[in-house]
Amino acid sequence: MSKNLTLDAAELTVELGERSYPIWIGSGLLGRIGEAFQMRSIPTRSPIVIITDDHVAPLYLERTEAALREAGYQVSSFVVAAGESSKSLQVYEQCITAALDAGCDRHSSIVALGGGVVGDLAGYVAATYMRGIRFIQVPTTILAHDSSVGGKVAVNHPFAKNIIGAFHQPEMVLYDTATLLTLPDREVRAGLAEMIKHGLIWDEEFTAWCEAQAERLLAKDEEALTYGLLKGCAIKAQVVSQDEREHDLRAILNLGHTIGHALEAVAGYGELLHGEAISIGMVGSARLAERLGEDKQIAVRTEAILTKYGLPVAVPQHMNSDDIIQAMMHDKKFKEGHTVFIVPTAIGHVEIRKDVPVSLVRDIIEELKGEKA
Ligand SMILES: NC(=O)c1ccc[n+]([C@@H]2O[C@H](COP(=O)([O-])OP(=O)(O)OC[C@H]3O[C@@H](n4cnc5c(N)ncnc54)[C@H](O)[C@@H]3O)[C@@H](O)[C@H]2O)c1
Ligand SMILES: [Zn+2]
Repeated sequence: MSKNLTLDAAELTVELGERSYPIWIGSGLLGRIGEAFQMRSIPTRSPIVIITDDHVAPLYLERTEAALREAGYQVSSFVVAAGESSKSLQVYEQCITAALDAGCDRHSSIVALGGGVVGDLAGYVAATYMRGIRFIQVPTTILAHDSSVGGKVAVNHPFAKNIIGAFHQPEMVLYDTATLLTLPDREVRAGLAEMIKHGLIWDEEFTAWCEAQAERLLAKDEEALTYGLLKGCAIKAQVVSQDEREHDLRAILNLGHTIGHALEAVAGYGELLHGEAISIGMVGSARLAERLGEDKQIAVRTEAILTKYGLPVAVPQHMNSDDIIQAMMHDKKFKEGHTVFIVPTAIGHVEIRKDVPVSLVRDIIEELKGEKA
């Protein structure tokens, strides 16, 4: 098979010099993963390990393994329990054991088949096994259009999320939109929150498109999803290309995450999905912008679009404001009564503000609690 063959898919490139890589998005790409491996010149002589979870494995593992074997690769798989708890050092060690058992060497590849949990875990395995081997992202959630691009990989410590990690860019991202058809509706909405975020930080036109296409996206219309994922990935890729290691610009991807992470920390497990928490966080940031003198319409429009997607826009009543502020204090960006905040200054544009008074953040949280969740 020729290496110059192109996959019948939308393609974009994350520009990072010699570490640049393609993102392919299209329906049915799982069956063509072997071809994609060949196009990226991944050698057949070294074993490949697929890491996936126990929701995704019954749906897509066999097909992925078969397509790789057909292209001449030696494949084995390791299935972890679905959910955030698999992003742990214990499960990480089990994955390393699986790679050793499979006989992986320095030319081997680790494939992440699943959502952001599997992507972050498998990526950290690939970043550290023999000081780093090839890594391939095969995202199967909408949220993973965000997590599979950019090379941040990590597992959690019991006291802190994503604290044990690395920057390790994948060889490619192969996004089969047909896999999204089995995604539960709540996960669809939560994933779309990150897509909306990409519009809000970077592109007014894309935000308007998201506003207009809510019904199609929520119904998992593949054409709409392909376009939305492509735009979302393109925005993330542009930001990452300019600031891979988050010296400054990359921080804008954290719109809604200061409040969002605190809400996730305070909520019981499973109460709020990540996308739901950042939805509330993005409303908080827009309200904050208004208090800082920005146009009120930013907050009105932000809230309207998230509501249209059925995403939460208020802090759950039972959450204690002190606990939320306390959770934010753990954030190293919180200093002497002020914090760093990503604040929208227009739809499609944000600024990194380093001078936001904590008292103002508390007011906003109280305000968001006063409204129906
Ligand atoms: N590295 C980054 O830059 C980055 C960015 C954002 C989020 N993240 C991380 O991503 C994680 C969240 O990712 P997520 O929302 O994809 O969660 P997830 O991986 O837990 O997937 C959500 C759920 O959907 C199931 N699932 C996945 N694909 C499916 C499919 N096609 N059909 C049916 N079910 C399917 C999973 O088994 C799981 O139960 C968090 O750990 C977060 O920290 C990382
Ligand atoms: Zn996020």
